[in-house]
Amino acid sequence: MPLSSRTLWLDFSIRKAKVYRRVGITAIRGFNDILPEEAELWRHIEEESFMVFSSYGFSEIKAPIVEKTELFSRSIGETTDIVEKEMYTFLDRHGDSLTLRPEGTAPVVRAYIEHKLYESPVTKLYYAGPMFRYERPQKGRYRQFYQIGAEVLGDGSPQADAEALGMLMGLFDRIGLEGAMLQINSLGCPDCRPAYKKKLYAFLLDRKESLCDNCKRRIDANPLRALDCKNPGCVEATKDAPSIIESLCADCADHFRKVQARLERLGIKASINPRMVRGLDYYTKTTFEITASGLGSQNAVAAGGRYDGLVNELGGPRTPCFGFAMGVERLALLLKENGVFKKKPLSVFIALGENAEMKGMELLKGWRQKGLKIAEDFSGGSLKSRMKRADKAGARYVLILGEDELGHGEITVKDMATAGQERVKWEFVADRIAP
Ligand code: HAM
Repeated sequence: MPLSSRTLWLDFSIRKAKVYRRVGITAIRGFNDILPEEAELWRHIEEESFMVFSSYGFSEIKAPIVEKTELFSRSIGETTDIVEKEMYTFLDRHGDSLTLRPEGTAPVVRAYIEHKLYESPVTKLYYAGPMFRYERPQKGRYRQFYQIGAEVLGDGSPQADAEALGMLMGLFDRIGLEGAMLQINSLGCPDCRPAYKKKLYAFLLDRKESLCDNCKRRIDANPLRALDCKNPGCVEATKDAPSIIESLCADCADHFRKVQARLERLGIKASINPRMVRGLDYYTKTTFEITASGLGSQNAVAAGGRYDGLVNELGGPRTPCFGFAMGVERLALLLKENGVFKKKPLSVFIALGENAEMKGMELLKGWRQKGLKIAEDFSGGSLKSRMKRADKAGARYVLILGEDELGHGEITVKDMATAGQERVKWEFVADRIAP
């Protein structure tokens, strides 16, 4: 090869590499694309959730994704992992500190106060959307993740806790989640928690050397955090820690007992886990987590509890509240593994010739209005190649309209699962292929 053309070739390949690099941008680690197949399952989870929540009298609220940083530091707690190291916080062009919401409860409470929703005695709200935490990504744990949550504001009764838990467990049953296990605890209230904190503090102080640096640092301000630490040294050091349940005041103990009695009445099994302190500081009284196997270490599909002090702390009236949020990625993972979600079957319509195309548009409009899921293939080409395309698209049925079918007011329905086919009158097609 003469030198000049080799130089040209080299230059060309360098340019190609540059172009490739420029095009090859991938998503940020921990931020996922939800592709159509998965998105359909997510939509199913959302639709079922919203339907169940509505049947319990909840209404939807849509809060912004970005809030003032202070909202989260004041509500979730300055000495929690979320606030100390996981928030996506930035200064906007005006120099204000803003944060991508790491959870949905604080924004709901902010909106509740701001719009005086407390003027009605009980407010039941649900929400869905992305949350952001700078966590180490792994199976079931992402930096952008999607929560569906519900909050009951203005009801301090044990009935409210049990009803919300019953709603959630009922929803899991309905969508076919297997092996969901409920763990509950009570974190007491400002009357009884200080005494427990003191007891725990003394216990931890004796074992300070076995704790991780984080727990050592937080031991004064927030000793409960040590019970939530996943560091093996801390888990071992705190395994005989005093139980918070034994320190509950009469009111909290009574509330906890009543919640359990109501769960029992609803036929919901719950195990008590006195170590479960949750990763957010706003909880009082009942807290809970629902776990399911198949998620590895990130096994909580939903969690929440009572937060009777938060509305007041953020400037609203004293308002007892209970709520929860579930992780949609985790739920979707489990439902996919269970194989319980059945997609609505897809049909592909193939028209042979212009007359069939014209009539086909009319027929398709009517069938789609009946809620059938039908993609059309007006692309031309041989019937064989179009059948292949329909198969690739995952079609359960192929509907073929040719000249002969047109003349008889019929369509050929080919069942791709059984390979059988039959002629069906247009008016009966919807019944034939409906799921
Ligand atoms: P949370 O326990 O932090 O509570 O999150 C609730 C659920 O969101 C978890 O059980 C899990 O399914 C999911 N989740 C949390 N972090 C991630 C992550 N990094 N990747 C994937 N999924 C995740 C709250 O957020 C409270 N606001 C719940 C609440 C509502 N409490 C009272 N009302």
